[in-house]
Amino acid sequence: MSGVNEIRSAFLDYFEKNGHERVASSPLVPRNDPTLMFTNAGMVQFKNVFTGLEKRPYSRATTAQKVVRAGGKHNDLDNVGYTARHHTFFEMLGNFSFGDYFKDVAIELAWNLTTKEFGLPKDRLLVTVFSEDDEAAALWKKIAGLTDDRIIRIPTSDNFWTMGETGPCGPCSEIFFDQGESVAGGPPGSPDEDGDRFLEFWNLVFMQFDQVDAETRLDLPRPSIDTGMGLERMAAILQGVHSNYETDLFRTLISAAEHAIGSVAAGARLASHRVIADHLRATAFLIADGVLPSNEGRGYVLRRIMRRAMRHARMLGAEEPVIYRLVPTLVSEMGRAYPELGRAEALIAETLKLEEKRFLQTLDRGLALLAEATEGMSVGAQLSGETAFKLYDTYGFPLDLTQDALRQRGIAVDLDAFNTAMQRQKAEARANWAGSGEAATENVWFPIRERVGATEFLGYGTERAEGQVVALVRDGAEVAAAEAGEDVSIVVNQTPFYGESGGQLGDTGVMRGDGVEIVVSDTRKFAEGLFVHRAKILGGSVRVGAALDLEVDHRRRSQIRANHSATHLLHEALREVLGSHVAQKGSMVAPDRLRFDFSHPKPIEAGELAEIERIANGVILQNAPVDTRLMAVDDAIASGAMALFGEKYGDEVRVVSMGTAEAGEKAGRPYSVELCGGTHVRATGDIGLVHVVAESGVAAGVRRIEALTGEAARGHLLDQEQRVRRMASTLKVSPAEVAERLEAIVEERRRLERELAEAKKKLALVGDGGGSSSGAAPQEVAGVAFVGRVLEGVSPKDLKGLVDETKAQIGSGVVALVALADGKASVVVGVTPDLTGRFDAVSLVRAASGAIGGKGGGGRPDMAQAGGPDAGKAGEAIAAVEAAMLG
Ligand code: SER
Repeated sequence: MSGVNEIRSAFLDYFEKNGHERVASSPLVPRNDPTLMFTNAGMVQFKNVFTGLEKRPYSRATTAQKVVRAGGKHNDLDNVGYTARHHTFFEMLGNFSFGDYFKDVAIELAWNLTTKEFGLPKDRLLVTVFSEDDEAAALWKKIAGLTDDRIIRIPTSDNFWTMGETGPCGPCSEIFFDQGESVAGGPPGSPDEDGDRFLEFWNLVFMQFDQVDAETRLDLPRPSIDTGMGLERMAAILQGVHSNYETDLFRTLISAAEHAIGSVAAGARLASHRVIADHLRATAFLIADGVLPSNEGRGYVLRRIMRRAMRHARMLGAEEPVIYRLVPTLVSEMGRAYPELGRAEALIAETLKLEEKRFLQTLDRGLALLAEATEGMSVGAQLSGETAFKLYDTYGFPLDLTQDALRQRGIAVDLDAFNTAMQRQKAEARANWAGSGEAATENVWFPIRERVGATEFLGYGTERAEGQVVALVRDGAEVAAAEAGEDVSIVVNQTPFYGESGGQLGDTGVMRGDGVEIVVSDTRKFAEGLFVHRAKILGGSVRVGAALDLEVDHRRRSQIRANHSATHLLHEALREVLGSHVAQKGSMVAPDRLRFDFSHPKPIEAGELAEIERIANGVILQNAPVDTRLMAVDDAIASGAMALFGEKYGDEVRVVSMGTAEAGEKAGRPYSVELCGGTHVRATGDIGLVHVVAESGVAAGVRRIEALTGEAARGHLLDQEQRVRRMASTLKVSPAEVAERLEAIVEERRRLERELAEAKKKLALVGDGGGSSSGAAPQEVAGVAFVGRVLEGVSPKDLKGLVDETKAQIGSGVVALVALADGKASVVVGVTPDLTGRFDAVSLVRAASGAIGGKGGGGRPDMAQAGGPDAGKAGEAIAAVEAAMLG
């Protein structure tokens, strides 16, 4: 009997043999289709190939595609566990023709695989066709030799496949397996078709149309083929079991759960075991593709799936987290076909364990409340909406979990009242927003946020994705469309553009769509999770509802990543070198540089800075992978992650770790561990190099470092080096000798300056001072010796010394010296001690001061000084002193 893994291989081998390219499954989060919540069929990744928008080097392909049908158009969540075949996650095997073969070859390939390779007996098979599709009916008759009663015409949408509201679509033909009379049910199209006897296992879609919007359906350029076979169903058929859950893969998963929980999968417990096995797969594959539990969008669908499984585990008696322990079994069963599962194994297990731990804290109390509220209720009764809302809001019970819990008792939930309570909560949130500072200037965003929900950020995993425009804002008001040349803010349902936060600048890039080209100059976040792209329409126009291809400027984002990761490394290195008092006070991560402010009481010494840089670069050289995990805030902080004091964190946080500590008490553990929502390099080596270019103080007790990484750091160091080379060549020494030579030159210069000052003073005393009494020798004024000079190039501060020297030279007399500097004049008058009885230096200097526009002056009888703005009147100042001496 073929196991699931062999059947998958057999299918792919068969189509590969028949000229099909074997293509890997695309992720569960569609990158090329913003209208889909999850990849819900094998053709999703080929959507643009069918419409002709995208070209591939092959025209036939085959895949085993991961599919989730929960939330969105195809939603099977409510039924899982209670039927033989519903799944939230399953694998769809498919073969595709992109304008290559059409109906005849598709039917022939399917028939041969089914009857020859898989060996299903022809008399157990029948098919359906769309009622108008005579061609398909005739082909089945001719190729498979089926009689008319085994080719059933169905007029309903069952035989017209659409992926969603829009996209490629067409009539289809399904192949059914008759499980035999022992199973109840009638053939498709009959009144009891819902019975399980006739099992549909393969859907051949004859892709002919492209549903552009509700009104427009265009012909596809070339008719194509899209088929989908549920692997789990085919396994059930080939293994001769009635339920998918009895196939080898599910039996292995269920048996692992039986052991982990200590509960046998039988009787009333069967459904719970099936729920757990199914939901484990959906959870693991979604997390591996980048979805993490949250309260909105895809993350909330995942949370609903996880919590539903957890309630069932609790019903089976599990008191501790247990589902995470099943992950290794899943990885060993499916990891070979889907290597991403193995790569994400730790993340899957940790995320599950965390969610289990958190939910178990409220689950029992919630269940008790539910039991109390429904006590005595019988089939057909309704649980009040208020209670359902309380379970949702206080105990974390998603609505469908409550419905699931009441399902077996036939009790419904008052949905209207539940929705009213939900609206009331939203109104309260709105009132809170209105009170926040942000609301005053940016209140245009709140109604949008409420209407469209938080933007889903895809930028941790991809820099390019499609998004659907959900709002346009121009000049502060919502608009339906924007035209070429206009500046507009664009909100999309999902985006790879990072919105500025945590110091990291917002992304820039381009958006393209049907004839429209847009440049994004910044991305911001408003109203708790609404990403707003500041953009300019270069050409064409864009409307709300349009799908756009969103592409982040890769080069700029890579630089930002490097700078952000380097910031973490510097932060830790600062703590290591300066002490654990270092705490982040601010940070700016731009593409061209990073800036980090932190508490530290004094400037960092050059030696410390060099050590910090050396350590950070050591971790870069480790080229260690950067690891991101989701954790409960308390656990993250308890595990030593650095968190910012006063920062608001959600219940769960991203924890970014990088490098390995080589010594100290952390040896062997991650070097840096921080709570961070930013984007980071994949491995530390991607930073290249970090170099601190500035250290300064920004406030009391707060220092700032600025640094460069990668190419910018290299460029900076190269410039420095070139500067040194230039200096070396000017100094005519080798670069290594520049510093020493420069010190010698500076020292020599100091000496020369000193000597020059001395020489000038001497020169001033002996040379022609330019005063009214010129010449070296003193004059006689009022019967005493008088020296009066105007000195240029002498500093005012040297003036008193010069007056003293001159007084000493003449022995007895009066000296008046004027120095000119910076357009101003300074005067010092000295009187030798023997003459202070006749002349007062203070009165004499005041006379001089008057001449140069000064305001008096002061000093002692033997030495006084003054200053004034009129440097040009220096000579008159000397004359004024003479006049004053003469009385
Ligand atoms: N798209 C079709 C389906 O999902 C066939 O692959 O059934």
